Amino acid sequence: MVFTGAGISTESGIPDFRSPGGFWTRHKPIAYADFLASAETRLEAWRRFLTIHDTIRAANPGPGHRAIAGLVARGHVACVITQNIDGLDVAAGVPRDRIIEIHGSGTHARCLACGERHEIAWVRDVISSTAAAPACTACGGIVKSATVSFGQPMPEAEMAAARAATLNADLFLAIGSSLQVFPAAGFPVLASHNRTPLVIINREETGLDGLAVLVLRGEIGPLMEELMARLDEP
Ligand code: APR
Repeated sequence: MVFTGAGISTESGIPDFRSPGGFWTRHKPIAYADFLASAETRLEAWRRFLTIHDTIRAANPGPGHRAIAGLVARGHVACVITQNIDGLDVAAGVPRDRIIEIHGSGTHARCLACGERHEIAWVRDVISSTAAAPACTACGGIVKSATVSFGQPMPEAEMAAARAATLNADLFLAIGSSLQVFPAAGFPVLASHNRTPLVIINREETGLDGLAVLVLRGEIGPLMEELMARLDEP
């Protein structure tokens, strides 16, 4: 199975979080409790999200996403756990039922009270016409992007599916993640403790290099393209 982080999307023009110039080098995360507590904080969180969303909707799958789609199509990869919210795995051709988005999705919004789905375009309209964070059209509840923020409960079904996929894997390939954020980074740890070989592909050292049987230190696109070329060798 494959586990991806923001590093696989930088070649698509989406900055990651912890590289120089990454998102958290420019912004302090807004905790879920703060998002709930203040309408002003919700508006600031939405303004930030809409900037990220501008980048996401202009992005195309990169060589890493395409290689993973190729590995799934060839039957080498059963499941992709992604920490990313950009939906580029599906855009690259990975079937939706092979993807587990453990940090949610940035493609839409949800009411936190009733679960009603809201589209990002609608949120943009509400904010530009009212200069306030949107309220649910069905129940008046707080509307948030369908992503998981720091301090927000992880999605139970996705976490259970990710655990099952990890325990079932023959090989755990972690690509483009600093492997610093838990519980997500708990899956490569679980794989390693379950005697499933952990392979890490990343430009920089990660928090879990010591658990890996192999670390490929380099750019994801060229490494993944070379991997695919070798797979296709007779
Ligand atoms: N090739 C190889 N590695 C790359 C490339 C690239 N083209 N671009 C970036 N990287 C590496 C960086 O060196 C970095 O170690 O990808 C890693 C990305 O790490 P982070 O920015 O920490 O992103 P990620 O691990 O996905 O963060 C996990 O933290 O903030 C939360 O919810 C957010 O899902 C995110 C989680």
